[in-house]
Amino acid sequence: MRSYTYKANKKLILLFLLLSTLISTCYAMDSTSFLQQFQYNYESQKFNDQLDLIRFNKEVIPSAVSDLIKEAMSDKYIFEERMQQLNIASAIAYMYLHWHKDESLLKKVTPLIQSELKKEQKRVAEIMKWKKEERFLGNFVMKQHEKEMEKQGLPMVLYPHWLHRIMYECKVCHNGIFKMKRWENDLSRQSIENGKLCGVCHNGTEAFAAADKSNCNRCHIAGSPNADHLHNPNKVKQAAIKEIAEKIGAKWRPENLPDGRLPLDRFQFIDWMKLKESNVFTPVVSLDKNITEEIRDNKILFASKSGFVSDVVFDHKIHSDWINCGTCHPAIFKDELGGNKMKMTDMSKGLFCGACHGKVSFTFADCLRCHKKETGKLSLDESRVEDVLKRPVPQQ
Ligand code: HEC
Ligand code: HEC
Ligand code: HEC
Ligand code: HEC
Ligand code: HEC
Ligand code: HEC
Repeated sequence: MRSYTYKANKKLILLFLLLSTLISTCYAMDSTSFLQQFQYNYESQKFNDQLDLIRFNKEVIPSAVSDLIKEAMSDKYIFEERMQQLNIASAIAYMYLHWHKDESLLKKVTPLIQSELKKEQKRVAEIMKWKKEERFLGNFVMKQHEKEMEKQGLPMVLYPHWLHRIMYECKVCHNGIFKMKRWENDLSRQSIENGKLCGVCHNGTEAFAAADKSNCNRCHIAGSPNADHLHNPNKVKQAAIKEIAEKIGAKWRPENLPDGRLPLDRFQFIDWMKLKESNVFTPVVSLDKNITEEIRDNKILFASKSGFVSDVVFDHKIHSDWINCGTCHPAIFKDELGGNKMKMTDMSKGLFCGACHGKVSFTFADCLRCHKKETGKLSLDESRVEDVLKRPVPQQ
């Protein structure tokens, strides 16, 4: 039995040697076709072919790996694509070491992969850091002039939108001082120190002065542990807010807070309606004392077309109490009942209700905060049904 196997093996070995010489002649190739063949085998998981390829191409492998690395490190690839190629380079290098007992290629590839992974970790950490600070719905990390700020060793600016909302109605800033869109206000140190944009208030009278050297790091604070009170609901400084509000003519009444803390919705964002209903805050209406407010006191019913979701009621009063007519009309909505053809998909792209909801106001994921009226029944505030405008279905 044993000798039989031996004989068979001997025949096999002979055959194998013969084949190898044959293959070696047709397998020896230039570095480009080597790479193509290796990648093909790699993707189709032909491991045995791969071994032969490595065995018979010792001469071209180093330049093939160099080419592959050079290609992988060029600017046109994103991280995942680059890693895919470096992983192939690494596979070649490992097999090269195994077969030809030469570690040089592996020593070239491994540190590259390590440094790419490190770079990516850093990049993700950076994004997550901003995410954390921006997660407090409506906070913005401002870094249009990232390079200039870095040059001066200044952290990026963290703009606590929520804190300003406590102190001022939307109409104080939008659209007189700021366009209601990120990146569209030409924010710069110069314009601020000239009394525009943030400088309308941060001039030492209404709020701390931007030009004062001791204040730089009150705004240039993004990513610093000192910014906790601007994005961590547990670290909010109630007493300080009360004092500032008093000073500028607003009101903050922490004693009315349901349990002494900022009320959060199920997505951990500030529940502004609860704050309003509990009479916790009264923001400043205008920086100009003689202004008359325009408020539209009605509700608009968006009847559900499908029955799959409940009706939506848009409260003109709640909205126009805080927001200028001109902020919504005509830029976001035509001021005509049924004049706007809205779709949820458009809204989640930032159009119509999505100009605010999901950005600085409660998010779309909270379906029932809008779709809350039982279909076909105007159960809200029955006594004021006459104030509810039933919206005709817009023309296609
Ligand atoms: C003290 C000033 C101030 C007040 C008050 C204020 N905002 Fe803003 N708002 C800003 C600034 C500054 C930006 C950022 C602009 C930029 O990045 O160029 C902004 C941006 C926005 C954006 C754009 C978000 C995006 O992702 O593009 C929306 C929407 C918005 N505010 C809505 C509101 C609403 C609604 C209110 C009231 C509930 C309000 N703001 C109150 C200053 C203010
Ligand atoms: C309508 C007036 C107004 C405008 C416009 C305004 N702020 Fe403020 N801001 C205030 C007031 C008032 C305070 C509270 C002042 C205080 O703490 O002494 C404040 C506080 C802040 C704080 C909190 C600082 C802390 O340590 O708690 C930051 C940060 C800030 N503002 C940044 C900005 C930036 C950035 C802009 C422009 C994008 C801006 N503000 C525009 C009025 C304004
Ligand atoms: C009230 C908030 C606030 C204060 C205080 C403040 N800055 Fe800024 N600063 C900003 C904002 C907003 C930007 C624009 C951020 C962006 O690039 O998106 C900015 C941008 C800058 C820039 C880069 C853009 C440019 O125009 O050069 C520099 C440099 C700078 N600030 C320096 C300072 C210095 C120095 C101080 C203290 C003397 C200071 N800032 C105080 C809000 C502030
Ligand atoms: C938050 C955004 C928003 C604000 C602020 C706002 N509106 Fe509207 N308005 C709407 C929406 C949404 C509709 C319904 C449009 C439709 O049916 O397609 C509407 C409809 C209207 C209509 C037609 C229906 C009606 O009520 O007669 C008029 C007129 C109107 N708005 C005037 C105003 C005036 C005046 C103000 C300021 C006092 C104002 N709006 C403030 C969003 C707003
Ligand atoms: C210009 C900004 C803006 C636009 C556009 C806007 N909203 Fe609002 N909405 C707000 C703000 C601010 C609040 C206060 C709650 C908050 O910020 O989370 C609010 C609150 C609400 C509430 C809770 C109050 C209530 O009536 O029970 C509903 C519901 C609502 N919005 C529906 C809508 C619908 C539907 C649309 C589109 C037809 C819309 N909103 C468009 C800013 C806006
Ligand atoms: C900020 C308010 C708001 C929130 C939050 C909201 N919707 Fe809507 N939704 C509307 C309005 C307003 C309409 C009516 C558009 C019309 O009929 O013209 C609508 C329409 C719809 C429709 C009818 C089909 C369509 O595309 O027009 C569906 C389905 C729908 N919403 C599902 C959802 C779901 C699911 C969620 C939660 C993930 C959600 N909505 C959250 C305001 C909202």
